[in-house]
Formats: sequence, C-alpha cells, structure tokens
Amino acid sequence: MQYGAELDKLPLFKKIGSQADAMGLECYVVGGYVRDLILGRPSKDIDFVCVGSGIELARAVSGALGKGHKVNVFKNFGTANIRYKDFDLEFVGARKESYRRESRKPVVEDGTLQDDQNRRDFTINAMAICLNESCYGELIDPFDGVKDLKRKMIRTPADPDITFSDDPLRMMRAIRFANQLMFDIAPDTFDGIIRNKERIRIVSQERITDELNKIILTDTPSYGFKLLYHAGLLELIFPEMTDLQGVETINGMSHKDNFYHTLQVLDNTAKRSDDLWLRWAAILHDIAKPATKRFDKKVGWTFHGHEDRGARMVPGIFRKMKLPMNDRMLYVQKLVRLHLRPIALVKDHITDAAIRRLLFEAGDDVDDLMKLCKADVTSKNDTRVKRYLANFKKVERKMLEVEEKDKVRNFQPPISGEDIMQTFDIQPGRVIGDIKEQIKEAIMEGEIPNNREQAWELMLILGKQHGLTKVDEK
Ligand code: CTP
Repeated sequence: MQYGAELDKLPLFKKIGSQADAMGLECYVVGGYVRDLILGRPSKDIDFVCVGSGIELARAVSGALGKGHKVNVFKNFGTANIRYKDFDLEFVGARKESYRRESRKPVVEDGTLQDDQNRRDFTINAMAICLNESCYGELIDPFDGVKDLKRKMIRTPADPDITFSDDPLRMMRAIRFANQLMFDIAPDTFDGIIRNKERIRIVSQERITDELNKIILTDTPSYGFKLLYHAGLLELIFPEMTDLQGVETINGMSHKDNFYHTLQVLDNTAKRSDDLWLRWAAILHDIAKPATKRFDKKVGWTFHGHEDRGARMVPGIFRKMKLPMNDRMLYVQKLVRLHLRPIALVKDHITDAAIRRLLFEAGDDVDDLMKLCKADVTSKNDTRVKRYLANFKKVERKMLEVEEKDKVRNFQPPISGEDIMQTFDIQPGRVIGDIKEQIKEAIMEGEIPNNREQAWELMLILGKQHGLTKVDEK
C-alpha cells in the first residue's frame, strides 16, 4: 500500500528521507504515527527509525531544518529528539532488543527494520512507512496491522508471552488502546494478559498510573476498567476498586453492585467533563462502601458514613498510586466527602442555611460537585431519574438565589482577627478565633446577613459575652 500522498501533507518527511539518502541509511516513520495516519487521527508525536545511528540522522535533520531545531540526545537510550513546530520528532536506530527476564533494563543490539518491528507491542503499532526515495510512501506491514485496524483488533505481533514479558506494562497498554480506539483484544492476546498478569508487579507505579489515567480519560472508561477487571489486573493494581464488586443478600434484601455502579457513574461523569480529577472523584466516591457496609433487620443494607470514611481513604490511595499529593488530591477528597450533600438537600426541606453551608464548604467546586451528583443517579427507573434531576435543578436554582444574596461561595470573614484585637485591645489568643467562628455561624444560619456592619455589631455583643471591653470604654 502507498501512503506517499498522505506523507506529502508534511514536507518534513521528504526532507528527512533525503537526509537519510545522503547518509546511505534506510529510514522509516514507524509506530503510533503510522497507525493514526491510517486511522485518520491527528498525532503530534512522530517516531523515525533508521538502520544505523538515529542520533547521527537527527543531527543531520536538525542541520537541514535550520536554526531553532536543536537536537536533544539521550545517549543511554540511543535516541534523539527534535521539536519541530508543534511536533515531537523522535529518532532511533533499529534494534534487536531482548529483555532479561527479571530485569527492566533492555539489552540493546543493532538490528534490521524487521528486527525492530518484531519487538514492538501490537500489530497496529508495528507498521512502518519508507521515507527513502527508492520506496517513498510504501507501507511495510509484516503482521497485517492494517487488517487488525479494519477488524478493530489489538493483537501482539509475537507470542503474547514474549511480548508481555519483554515489557509487562504492555498488558495495560493493550487495554488502554482497546479502550481509546474501542477495539477488541484478540482472544490469544487477552489469554496472554491473564497468564502474565503477575508480571505487572515489576513495573513502576508511575508507568502504571500513567496508563490508568489514559484509560480514565477515554470516552467510555468503564470498558477499560472491565477489561482490567476480567484480566485480573485490576485486583493487583487497585484492590480497593475490586473490593466494591459483589452483591450480598440477607432475608431477601440485596444491595447494588457498587463496582458496576461506580463504573456507570464514571461513564456518566465522562459525558459531562474531561477533567481527570473529577473523574477520579467519580471512581472514589463510594470507595468506602465495603468498609462501612452493615445489615440492619429493619432498614436493610446501610453504608453510613461512607462519604467521610472514603474521603479519609483518598490520601492513602493517591500516595500509593503516586498521584499528586497537592490541591488536586484535596479537591478529590472534598468531592468524595460532599457527594451526598446535594441529595440530602433534595430529600429534606431545603433551608437557606443548608444551602449556605454547602456553598461555603464546596466553594468554587460546587459546580463540579453537582456534576458528580447528577452522574451518581444510575437508577434504571426513568420516573425516579427524572424526579432526581428535577430536584437537583431546584437545588441549583436555590443555590443561585442564596449566593446572589449572601456571597458565601468564596466566604471571606467580614471581621478580621486584627479588627477584634484592635477593638478590644487584646493580644492574639483563642477568644479571637471563637468570635470569628461565632460570626461565621451566625451568617451561615441566617441570623445576620453577610455584611460588615451587622457583623461588627455582633462582634461587639460577642466581645461583651466573652468578658471583653471596647477600647474606648476602658
Ligand atoms: N512501544 C512498544 N512497547 C512499549 C511502548 C512503546 O512496543 N511498551 C512501541 C510501539 O510501536 C509504539 C511506539 O513504541 O507505537 C511509540 O510508543 P508510544 O509513544 O508510547 O505510543 P504510541 O503508539 O505513539 O501511542 P500514544 O502516543 O497514544 O501513547
């Protein structure tokens, strides 16, 4: 098959081909870029492989592209890259690579194009297009990757046991590609994952989490999670999540399967937002249900306090997953802790005080919290779903009203500690915090509006109650 016309859309390819010709090197564009070109997906990372030194070729290309196209050389890996417009060009020499079984360090030997293709992960990632003048645009597809693209199939070019033990992360990559492209995994390849799943333990957590995040960011992440689950990988990399699976029945009363419920909430969230962290909040919103599950003869199954317990589990899970321990973690923790609050508001009579407290606690993340709550409605009963969503609308209207009036979403205390110290001529101490807290409570409860004059008056009354005297009355 010929892809010359497609390559010509970027003049870069001919330029690189002629540099390689001048050096007497075979040169190809290879891997993900070729896959995406055939699929018609735009891609910004382009990998080039030559039979010889990738670093030397990169130097020549950098010279031909002119100023501002510096080469970064990674001697240890035998690779070099060049930033070209918004493309990342990566150059490598063809390799015959074998991995020692128990080591992550590759033993690298120079090889032919065929050797290089043999060691790649999947048939759809092992295609190359020639850039030399003699074969410009010709597709070299030894494992029928094009057919697998048409059949929508992820398949290893070699025996899956070899491909996966060369780099066990490929087991997660297979699932990630299946999920991103909505492909199936060939039965032999999937069996290979099941057989080799334990080898995932030798892969660094950073690489695992990177793949997991790519799965989470797909349009239908439940598909990837189901594959991870059925392959037996999920239990190894994220046991808290597989603990959610299962339904127990006592006296004819069952609870829902929280694993499949969570996956549906995740898919619903994915429809509403591309944000990785909101999606993580969806994954973790019910994570403490197994730990808080009780059976009560009168009311049946309960999961009291799973939101607080879940919030407390978030830092541990983030640490283990090597996810950032910063404000992103605090955001996920907050959403997990608050995820039942809007529903509780709907069930009870909605008071302004409850709305103010929720706005105060959620702050600017209140809109994301509402997205999560709507995604959490997974009932199969249409009337019930409609009723929930209508109730959420009511809560949102009320939130707008209250926020307009009271401005508590980004609550700033109307009276500062400094104000209190000056008014009563006192030194820093506990009483200042107490008065500030009492003023905040009065605003939240609607006893006074959120403004400085009324808060000032209340401060004077509270000061007296705490036995303080105003400075001008001393
Ligand atoms: N590759 C591999 N085994 C790995 C990682 C990568 O064989 N564990 C090969 C594949 O041929 C892949 C190429 O290296 O196509 C480039 O890898 P990478 O950039 O990680 O993947 P892409 O296929 O380009 O896809 P994406 O950018 O979506 O990750």
